Amino acid sequence: MADDLTTPLTVEQVYGDWSIEWEDAVAFTDHSLNPRPRTSMYDTFSTLGVGEGGYVLDIGGRDAAQALDLAERFGCRVLSVDPVQANIDLGTVDIANHEYGHLVENKLGTINDIPAPDHTFDAIFSRDMMGHVEDLEGALVECRRVLKPGGAVVIHDVFATPLLEPKESARLSADLAQAPGRLDGELFERTVAEAGFTIEVIDRVASEWLENLLEAEDGEKRLLRAARLNRDRDRFVETMGVLPYRVVRGNNLWTIYRMIGKLEDRVYVIRA
Ligand SMILES: C[S@@+](CC[C@H](N)C(=O)[O-])C[C@H]1O[C@@H](n2cnc3c(N)ncnc32)[C@H](O)[C@@H]1O
Repeated sequence: MADDLTTPLTVEQVYGDWSIEWEDAVAFTDHSLNPRPRTSMYDTFSTLGVGEGGYVLDIGGRDAAQALDLAERFGCRVLSVDPVQANIDLGTVDIANHEYGHLVENKLGTINDIPAPDHTFDAIFSRDMMGHVEDLEGALVECRRVLKPGGAVVIHDVFATPLLEPKESARLSADLAQAPGRLDGELFERTVAEAGFTIEVIDRVASEWLENLLEAEDGEKRLLRAARLNRDRDRFVETMGVLPYRVVRGNNLWTIYRMIGKLEDRVYVIRA
């Protein structure tokens, strides 16, 4: 099978008669594979059994949106920590206006310097942020410090597959402030072990969350945007500025690469 998928095809094989019509072959791919939505991470989180009376840290919580979700879904208290003041300001407004805002607080900080005493949290939630962390082992040791004994961390992150070329990896990492090595899944798992955690669950979500989003949102435009950003680069840079150009382009590619298997989404549960 593996050989069948990689040996070079001949022109006759590409254009000759197949055992199936082109339209029928394509039609096979037009059926949903029932991909899970991004909220599947909350389902994973629910297995930890943290509920009312529990206290959770959402690290890299941006505008506290997930912290509010967690409070609403599980009835727990949540501290959302993020290093960007603009995110804290946005979150403070959203917390004040949210029905479950009384359970949520947000603070400026980083995963390497968490603004909380030792053994504070029952669990830590981290979605799409570990890639920014330079000192991952130090960050995970800091997580252990603030976790109660036996507490767990639910981590979503994105990792390179063998299909991601080194130049693609370098450009993405530069445009999206990814720290060196953070796309390397094996290195991640080694570092988790070195920081004193055991991996309990690895959920290879791969493209499921994005498939779910695209099936719901007809007319997804990222591919089209990527083409335009590429073809009219100088005008976009002049109009929007080089920094937004790079981050918008990077985010587009980040999504497209996750769709086509150059990057793989995973959710881990790790326990101290
Ligand atoms: C891609 S966003 C994800 C936000 C949110 N967790 C979500 O899933 O929507 C990454 C977040 O990580 C934060 N971040 C970056 N470096 C961090 C660090 N060293 N410690 C904590 N948060 C960090 C950023 O400010 C940003 O809000």
